[in-house]
Amino acid sequence: MNFHIITIFPEMFRSYVDESILARAQKKKLINIKVYNPRDFTKDIHRSVDDKPYGGGPGMVMQAEPILRAVEKARGRKKNVKVIMFSPGGKQFTNKYARALNKKYKDVILISGRYEGIDSRVKKALRAEEVSIGPYVLTGGEVPAMVVVDATARQIPGVLGHAESLEEKRIASSEMYTRPEIIKHKGKNYKVPKILLSGDHKKIEEWRKGR
Ligand code: ADE
Repeated sequence: MNFHIITIFPEMFRSYVDESILARAQKKKLINIKVYNPRDFTKDIHRSVDDKPYGGGPGMVMQAEPILRAVEKARGRKKNVKVIMFSPGGKQFTNKYARALNKKYKDVILISGRYEGIDSRVKKALRAEEVSIGPYVLTGGEVPAMVVVDATARQIPGVLGHAESLEEKRIASSEMYTRPEIIKHKGKNYKVPKILLSGDHKKIEEWRKGR
């Protein structure tokens, strides 16, 4: 799967996806992540990407043209490309949404906005879908793009190693412990449940299911 990220903060994005599991997935060519900076698609000497809103009001608005050019660069001649924009009022992103993206598209373009928003003509011109990662307001679309890339990539077979897939089941179903057996915190002892030290795998399995 190819993720194309449109952001004026490419380093912010790369610092997240170029570590750990997502870095390994890129090396294994299971995913490909490209970042495009609208600033590289400006035509003025100041390389500006924002301007005052028509009709007045506070803040600045991201201009349409640098974003549209960046998207067209990302799209190239590819067909069947999904274009997503981020907004707290958009469609709620879920695991189900991630699986559907996975199934239907090989290329996804994620537009991360800053400032007060993006010129509304971008959404219209690209027939982009607005997506929200949750009921709160963030300062920009970079974290939402990271969330979508992360949650979508980990559904691709081979991205998670065997241990990590098991980890997911364990996280979903039970508590976990590691050494040492007893920890002391503010004068109180906290022990690992005895059953986990018993070596009785059948009983441990049952105990985990019950959690
Ligand atoms: N931009 C600001 N807040 C957001 C959110 N919760 N989801 C997606 N994009 C956003």
